[in-house]
Amino acid sequence: MKNIILIGFMGCGKTSVGGKLSRAFGWRFLDTDQLLEEEFGCTISEFFDREGEEEFRCRETQLLKRLCSEPEEMIVSTGGGMPLRTENAALLKQLGTVFYLKASEEATIARLAGDTTRPLLAGDGREEKIRRLLGERAPKYAAASDYIIETDGKSFYEIIHEVEKVMRRKKAGPGA
Ligand code: S3P
Repeated sequence: MKNIILIGFMGCGKTSVGGKLSRAFGWRFLDTDQLLEEEFGCTISEFFDREGEEEFRCRETQLLKRLCSEPEEMIVSTGGGMPLRTENAALLKQLGTVFYLKASEEATIARLAGDTTRPLLAGDGREEKIRRLLGERAPKYAAASDYIIETDGKSFYEIIHEVEKVMRRKKAGPGA
């Protein structure tokens, strides 16, 4: 489908890049965390407390299935855990071209310092949690993506430009 999907670890800039891509392409912007919070009527942290992570993951999968029947030309930024279920990874590829926004451990730790909105990082030992989760997840993000964009040291403009280049090449077709 003709959509752009952004995946990657918490704090890698999916939502910010997604908003800017939406303006650059003139496509509508959807953020799965925002959609789920609207559906839940509470924050993701509150939902985790009330219903638990497993229920959150089920709701992510249901949302992804619904998005597959939406009109095309969407920019979709996803929660950091979205591509981890095998079923979701397949649905993401079905939904569009998947870009993994890859940030280094150091950049991720710096970006998430002081964050209070991510239930998986709540409590002590945040840095350790980030290192462990990132180590476990990075290969899965790579496997779930069509393209990897290294984001360290790049401006939003440069990241958007890389996505545009890929999409132009795809539009021109093989051999272009
Ligand atoms: C999660 C990432 C969050 C949100 C939830 C779980 C994860 O989204 O979906 O807290 O498992 O990595 P962001 O990647 O937008 O922070």
